[in-house]
This record gives sequence, structure tokens and C-alpha cells, in this order.
Amino acid sequence: MKFFADTADTAEIAELAATGLLDGVTTNPSLIAKSGRDFMEVTKEICGLTDGPVSAEVVALDHETMMKEAEVLRKIADNVCIKVPLTIDGLKTCRALTNDGTQVNVTLCFSANQALLAAKAGATFVSPFLGRHDDNGFDGLSLIEDIRLIYDNYLFETQILAASIRHPVHVLECAKIGADVGTMPPKVIKALANHVLTDKGIEGFMKDWAATGQSIL
Ligand code: E4P
Repeated sequence: MKFFADTADTAEIAELAATGLLDGVTTNPSLIAKSGRDFMEVTKEICGLTDGPVSAEVVALDHETMMKEAEVLRKIADNVCIKVPLTIDGLKTCRALTNDGTQVNVTLCFSANQALLAAKAGATFVSPFLGRHDDNGFDGLSLIEDIRLIYDNYLFETQILAASIRHPVHVLECAKIGADVGTMPPKVIKALANHVLTDKGIEGFMKDWAATGQSIL
């Protein structure tokens, strides 16, 4: 399972990249706004921090303007992945861009039928929004399960990019279902390493080691 950081905070991305655990980055207009930085400038900087795909989202709602925006965005760097909304215009744009060899992430997916359309449009990634699904009284994980089943039925190559992940249990369940990628806030990636028994074990080993009076270096 690949891990993408769902943020436009370059300091957080650089810190994660240094761990070797980062496979890519996703951004969206809200995350760009939160960064307070220029869209093009921050996206270029992020593309230099990872070799993996960096999703940059179009903001137009019609196909023609989406294509014009994508043209600008894909010039930022070779690892830019164009993010388009799951609408008919977005799917049309997805098909045109993937036919041309450009990576596309179809975002704002909230149903398995939408994910089926994204695969038929040749999407590189589809982003089902797990947490927002849960927030609205639906079962986000069963959405991921349904998409996995459908994609396996037809051997679609579109990767399931589980998005809107809120906590480590989401990550665990997505990994069990077989989501190809999880995009999550850096704090969730870091939280995956935490375990009270790991902390307790280290504390015990440190105490016993100190009592030996030895040193390795
Ligand atoms: C995905 O690409 C989105 O940026 C993201 O996962 C949305 O998450 P949120 O629901 O926490 O805003």
C-alpha cells in the first residue's frame, strides 16, 4: 500500500520524505488555501520533495477550461498528476489527458458507480472520500470494498486512492481491503508507528541497559 501525504505543508512533506515512507502527495484547493502560498510555487516545491505523483487540482467546472488549466499544471513538473472532479466534464477531461499519457486522479468519488466511470475513463487514480462518507452517515469502508470488488471483476488498472482518511483504523481497514494507496494527513502516517507496548518495551530495555554500565559506541 502506498502512502501519500494529504497536505500542502512543505515542511511536513520534507520531514516525511526523509523517513522513506512517502510515496506521493495530494493537494486540493482547500489545502492550498490553508498553506497561504501561491499555488504554482508551492506545487513546484512539493514536486521537488518527492519522486512520486503530486496531485494538483483543476478548479474549472467545464471540460475546455479544465484542459487549459491542466496544460498549465502539467508543465510544473514531470510528476504532476492532474486532479479532476468526478463529473461528466471531469471524466471527459480524464480520458483526454490519460490518452495523452498524463496521470489523472479523479477526486470527490462517493459511490462505486462513480468509481466504475472513473476506471472506464482511464483514470490513474480514483479518490473515494472515506472520512466524509462516514461523516454523513454512510459506511466509507464498504465503499472501498465495493470499488475493490468491481475493479477486480474487470481487471481495471485504476488505483484506488483511499482519501479523507482520518485515523489509523481507517488505514488498517483500507490495507486489509486492498486499497492501492492511502492519502492522509502526516500526523496519521506518524501515528501508525505508535504503540504503548513499544514505548514500555523501550523504557524497560533502556533501564536494564543503563544498569549494565556498557556502551556500544
Ligand atoms: C483527497 O485527495 C483530499 O485532498 C482529501 O483526502 C480530503 O480529505 P478531508 O475530507 O479530510 O478534507
